[in-house]
Amino acid sequence: MKPYIAGTGRFLPERVMTNHDLAKIVDTSDEWIVERTGIKERRIAEKEVCASDLAAPAARDAIKAAGLKAKDIELIIVGTSTPDMLFPSTACFVQAKINATNAVAFDLLAACSGFTFSLATAVQYLKSGLFKNALVIGSEIYSSILDWEDRTTCVLFGDGAGAVVLKADGKGGKSGILSTHIYSDGSKSDFLSAVGGGSARRFTPDLISEKKYCLTMNGQGTFKVAVKSMISAAQATLQEAGLSVSDIDLVIPHQANTRIIAQVAKQLGIEESKCFVNIQKYGNTAAASIPIALDEAIEEGRVKKGDLVLFVTFGGGFTWGSILLRL
Ligand code: ACO
Repeated sequence: MKPYIAGTGRFLPERVMTNHDLAKIVDTSDEWIVERTGIKERRIAEKEVCASDLAAPAARDAIKAAGLKAKDIELIIVGTSTPDMLFPSTACFVQAKINATNAVAFDLLAACSGFTFSLATAVQYLKSGLFKNALVIGSEIYSSILDWEDRTTCVLFGDGAGAVVLKADGKGGKSGILSTHIYSDGSKSDFLSAVGGGSARRFTPDLISEKKYCLTMNGQGTFKVAVKSMISAAQATLQEAGLSVSDIDLVIPHQANTRIIAQVAKQLGIEESKCFVNIQKYGNTAAASIPIALDEAIEEGRVKKGDLVLFVTFGGGFTWGSILLRL
């Protein structure tokens, strides 16, 4: 049976940090950030809030929209690179918080591609017949791994969570996930990473004082690979499906930078109006960006049941991919 998206949800922390707020902390300006990234503001979680705290309300909304109860959920996958802790998994915390006692739960780490990889994984479980539904979440607190003195990275990211419920009950009609394409290249892992705190760079006083737990990025190198990779992932999907870009109703790209999105759209020949963009409000919320955008796009009427939607993602690893679905 074809898995289809039966419900969506999102949750953003209340606290808004504008570019003007950032300009009081680091040597930057609203003008620079808007021109280079498209970001105007982002949401920042309070210090005591963790990834599962954002994931749980997004999950509850997605489950409700899908017409299910938490106890109906059979599988929970959380895409996150800012988990609550090394273990237990954030997915286990979500399971407990929403009382989804019948679900098996685990995390998937693919940085900004975490949701796309998680959705592609859940699709395989549902197609195999092992589970009839799955809750797939992207949840991130990037504010916890940012160096707030590094203007080249701290202006880019924000916190948030998005969730979808996938069902494979034969009642989706024409709706369904039509294809998934996911890719990785570990040879450029140093372009974008947060090295501290794992077994490679263990927690020591030096690690903390050198801020090695923080994200670092080769911005320009990442930009170029992101554009190329997102284009090739989208093309692989379209070719396999025998579709052209004009058949797609809405592209939901990972929200890393409006210039990346514009270049991908231009080189694929997609009208920019067919690309959903909300980075101006939230910044780059990593694995949460696509499910947050999907939920907003549905709410705003940018997509409706029966529309063809293409997700295109890129993130640290490197990881990238695309998912084609009929809503
Ligand atoms: N405010 C003001 N000036 C700044 C800032 C800032 N916040 N940050 C950098 N600058 C300065 C630099 O110091 C540099 O100054 P210089 O010319 O005197 O040396 C100048 O601005 C230009 O810097 P660049 O790095 O060349 O700026 P660029 O146009 O490349 O934009 C950016 C930087 C926005 C990071 C861009 O490279 C980018 O978006 N990269 C890709 C990000 C991405 O896709 N990430 C993937 C997903 S994230 C994940 O998986 C976790």
